[in-house]
Amino acid sequence: MPAACKVVQIAHDIHWVGVEDWNRRSFDAVMDLPYGTSYNAYLVRGREKIALVDTVQASFGDELMQKVRQVVDPGRIDYLVMNHAEPDHAGSIPVVMAAAPGAKLLASEKGVEMARVFFQVPAERMQAMQDGGEIDLGGKRLRFVAAPWLHWPETMFSFAVEDGVLFTCDFFGAHLASDLLFADEVGGAVLPEAKLYYAVIMMPYAKMASAGLDKAVALQPSIIAPGHGPVWRSPKPVIDAIEQWTRGPLLKKAIIPYVTMWGSTRRMAEVVTASLSGEGIETIPYDLSVTDLARLARDLVDTSAVVMGSPTVLGTVHPLIANAASMVRLLRPRARIGAFFGSYGWGGGAAAQAKATLESVKMQVVDSVDVKGPPGQADLERLAVLGKNVASKITGATAPE
Ligand code: FEO
Repeated sequence: MPAACKVVQIAHDIHWVGVEDWNRRSFDAVMDLPYGTSYNAYLVRGREKIALVDTVQASFGDELMQKVRQVVDPGRIDYLVMNHAEPDHAGSIPVVMAAAPGAKLLASEKGVEMARVFFQVPAERMQAMQDGGEIDLGGKRLRFVAAPWLHWPETMFSFAVEDGVLFTCDFFGAHLASDLLFADEVGGAVLPEAKLYYAVIMMPYAKMASAGLDKAVALQPSIIAPGHGPVWRSPKPVIDAIEQWTRGPLLKKAIIPYVTMWGSTRRMAEVVTASLSGEGIETIPYDLSVTDLARLARDLVDTSAVVMGSPTVLGTVHPLIANAASMVRLLRPRARIGAFFGSYGWGGGAAAQAKATLESVKMQVVDSVDVKGPPGQADLERLAVLGKNVASKITGATAPE
């Protein structure tokens, strides 16, 4: 069977009929996808009725239908469950609804409205499902669980009660295409990709992610089947990871995004890095002229401190720092400790701008060193103290004099 036609049984009468998008390299124009991604859809067959849980991006609609046909006649589908209206999962709704003229689309109340707007599904072919509502397929029930803002306001989970399979769409997902469907087969690449996915998609809604995690755990799923990336048939590692990312203790870690034009800010970054590291803090400096912002996003999940370094350019921070700062503002990390260092030629401005950015995401700026021209010995000593001040805040110790 060609790989493109592969279907995989994940539980009794539950088949993965999703597709791999091997060559996709960017998502939402912000996330790099080194491994591509997948759009997962699942066919659930009861004794009397058949449900398809989610679809795939429209460009893969034919491949989805080819896969569905390997398991059932698409005309026999009774329910199309839309856990999320974003087109990477819902884009093939029109194809499925056309092939299954008797099918009803099930979604949250907000989802029904979105399906009408985005995919022109007529009202008489849709049914809004309440939190906790169920349908019986015949020996197999699907329960619907409200899980808003994971990642849009309409998102929900679906739970195959008898089989313990939880379909979570974006939540628990990772952008990773693989011929191996199960996370335990894929190995070490999965959690780092899941972490990046969490950072960019879920971290801005961390409270909703925390609530969604509680709801998922309460169901005690034996399998977590997300909308992107591998299926977790032993879900503990990803549950533990999301627990840590949403509400676990932050790490003794500091990230130092910086930009340099003539080497002064780099020299300063080196001193701050050495100082923090010397205090036992995991310290990661990023020269933003060569750094993939995804790396920064991933580290924002569990860092305790963000120390920004920028020269003043035209009275404000360098554009690359402005770009990173805008990502920090959007992703709303849990870190509460900030600091700034930089240099300027004639008039400053970067320090005030960086301080405003850090404070806008509830970080306390514990220290700031702004130097006119290249840093001298006294400046380098001040930067070492800055590193110690940040480290002290992280460890909760008293700041040095
Ligand atoms: Fe994978 Fe929010 O769509």
